[in-house]
Amino acid sequence: MIVKTDQERNGMRAASRVVKAALDAAERFIKPGVTTLEIDAVVEETIRSFGATPSSKGYQGYPNASCISVNDVVVHGIPSLMTVKDGDIVSVDITALLNGYQGDAARTFPVGNVSPQNLALIAAAKAAFEAGIEYAKAGGKVGDISSAVQLYTELRGYGVVRALTGHGIGHKMHEPPEVPNFGKRNTGAPLKNGMCICIEPMITAGDWRVVIDRDGWTVRTADKSNAAHYENTVIITGGEPEILTV
Ligand code: MF3
Ligand code: CO
Ligand code: CO
Repeated sequence: MIVKTDQERNGMRAASRVVKAALDAAERFIKPGVTTLEIDAVVEETIRSFGATPSSKGYQGYPNASCISVNDVVVHGIPSLMTVKDGDIVSVDITALLNGYQGDAARTFPVGNVSPQNLALIAAAKAAFEAGIEYAKAGGKVGDISSAVQLYTELRGYGVVRALTGHGIGHKMHEPPEVPNFGKRNTGAPLKNGMCICIEPMITAGDWRVVIDRDGWTVRTADKSNAAHYENTVIITGGEPEILTV
């Protein structure tokens, strides 16, 4: 959706605030010993407390309100009775629908005392997003964002996942254009004033290749290295982009 009216912008902002509140609630709740299903319940309650609905529930058969991806799981981890442990890293990805508008964001949280390597990986996912957002301006192209994310990530020795991408967002969770985390400058869809996209680096401590579990959802690194995810919903403008989920 190319966001034009004040009403549409406000709709995207409001849905995004719900997502941010649910991420914050998950962050406060996460501690050693809680199950990923309990984290998901906190997310769902928070979303519903705003009168919003969790978009992922029922999306192509996905069962839960959030995706909770631990350690070597990159994205789309299904909440379960598995507990998170001291030293784990937990990625929480949430999409919420409010008044016809979608917001989508993800963070990777440390559980208890986490190794410096894992903290650096988490920080690198956020920094890769920030490298990409530098190029999120009308007049540029999607490939400018993609190449900046890739360059930042790979220069630091991390892998950048290619099987999944960021995306446009609006009345639907996934809209054109795709926003890959790798690519070449001056290629891809033109960035336009009012365009709403999700920029979401998924980065790995080792190789970028991923495999999918037999559940059909869980995306893991092929080499079992840990992964981190950082996603925000963003409105492109002629100047500074508006980051809606921070
Ligand atoms: N939130 C994810 C994204 O960033 C999509 C969720 S997949 C679902 O695009 F199946 F859980 F809905
Ligand atoms: Co998401
Ligand atoms: Co997304």
